[in-house]
Amino acid sequence: KKVIHIVGARPNFMKVAPIHRAISARGSLQQLVIHTGQHYDAKMSDVFFADLGLPPPEIHLGIGSGSHAEQTAKMMVEMEKVFLKEKPDLVSVVGDVNSTIAAALVTSKLAIPLSHVEAGLRSFERHQPEEINRVVTDRLSDLLLTPSRDADANLLKEGIDPKHIHLVGNVMIDSLLSSKEKADQLPTLKTLGLEPKGYVVATLHRPSNVDNPKLLAGLLGVLMDVAKQLPVVFPVHPRTRKMIAEQGLGPKLEQTPGLKLVDPMGYLEFLSVTSQAKLVMTDSGGLQEETTALNVPCLTMREQTERPITVEVGSNEVVGTDPARIREAANRVLAGDFKKGRVPELWDGRTGERIADLYARFLGVVEAKR
Ligand code: UD1
Repeated sequence: KKVIHIVGARPNFMKVAPIHRAISARGSLQQLVIHTGQHYDAKMSDVFFADLGLPPPEIHLGIGSGSHAEQTAKMMVEMEKVFLKEKPDLVSVVGDVNSTIAAALVTSKLAIPLSHVEAGLRSFERHQPEEINRVVTDRLSDLLLTPSRDADANLLKEGIDPKHIHLVGNVMIDSLLSSKEKADQLPTLKTLGLEPKGYVVATLHRPSNVDNPKLLAGLLGVLMDVAKQLPVVFPVHPRTRKMIAEQGLGPKLEQTPGLKLVDPMGYLEFLSVTSQAKLVMTDSGGLQEETTALNVPCLTMREQTERPITVEVGSNEVVGTDPARIREAANRVLAGDFKKGRVPELWDGRTGERIADLYARFLGVVEAKR
C-alpha cells in the first residue's frame, strides 16, 4: 500500500518528517513525498530537508508563487497527473497552506482516502486564507488527526462523525524534541553576539499584519522600542521583506541598534535561538506551539489564535495588534512577570509513531508486533 505526503511551504516540513521517519522504520508501507514548490528559496525549503533528515522529495511540482487561485489551480493540475500515475492508497496532508487545500480537493475528487494532520484548528476568522484551507480540508478528509482536544470539539460541532477523528498529539513537537540536542550545539548565539535569556526573537509574516502598511509600521515600531531594552533577533520572511522595502522602512530598521534583521533561518538554527530567548513575539501559528513546548514566553500579535491550548495550558498570550498593548505586554514580560506554562497532553514526541500505526491500520496492513 502506498501513502503520498504533500509538502509545499515552510511549516509543512517539520510536520511530515516525523511521520515519514516512523513509516520508514516500520517498513510496511510504501511512501512518496511530493513537494508542490509553494516555497522555493533554499532558505525556505531545502535547508529544512537537511536539518530534519527528510530525504529530498521524490516528485517536485515547481509551482512557485502566485495569486491564491493561480497557485492552488496550478498545483491541482499537476497533482492530479501524479496521483493518476502513482495511484496512492492514502494521501496525507498537513497544516493549512495552499498546498494542503490543493491536495485535499484533488484527492477527494479522485476518490482517494485523505488524511489531514493538524485537523480541527479554528481561528473563526473566515477572511484568513488559512482558515478557509482548514475548514475545507477537514470537510473532505477521511482521517482527521488532531493535536489537542479543542480541535476534536470544533470538529464535532461542525458535525464531523467522531469515528473519523483521532487525537494523536502535535507532530511538530516530535521534530522539536528530536532536534533540540543538535540545535543546542550550534554556535548561533555566539555568532549573533547574544547571551542565553538575554534577547527577544520576533517574526512577522501574516498577510493581515504585513500587507497593511499602517499595521506593519506600528508593529515594527514596537520591535524598535523593545530593541532599546534587549537585542531583538528578527528573521525576515520574504513576504515581509518585500513589504518593508515597498514601504521604505528598511533604513530605519537597519539603523536601530539592537534590532538584528537576519535572513530566514534553518530549522536547527532557529530552534537554537528560540529555545534560549527571554521572549518570543510572533504572528506565526507554529511558533506559538514551539514556545509552549519549550516553555518560553510568547506574545502572539494577532486578534485570535487557532491554537487556544497554547494559551490555556502553555506559555502563549494573544495580545492583538494594537502597538500600545503589545508594548505594555512586552515590558511586563521583560520585567519578569509572565505566565509559566505546561506542555499539553500528547505533545510527547511520539505523534509520528501514532500516525504511522493509524495509517497501517486504516490501510489494513498487518504489522509484526513491535
Ligand atoms: C504561506 C502560507 C502561510 C504560512 C507561510 C509560512 C498559504 C495561504 N499561506 O504564506 O499559512 O504561515 O507560508 O511561511 O499557503 N516568496 C519568496 N520565496 C519563497 C516563497 C515565497 O520570496 O520561497 C515570496 C513571494 O514573493 C510570494 C510571497 O513570498 O509571493 C508569499 O508566498 P506564499 O507562498 O504565497 O505565502 P506565504 O506568505 O509564504
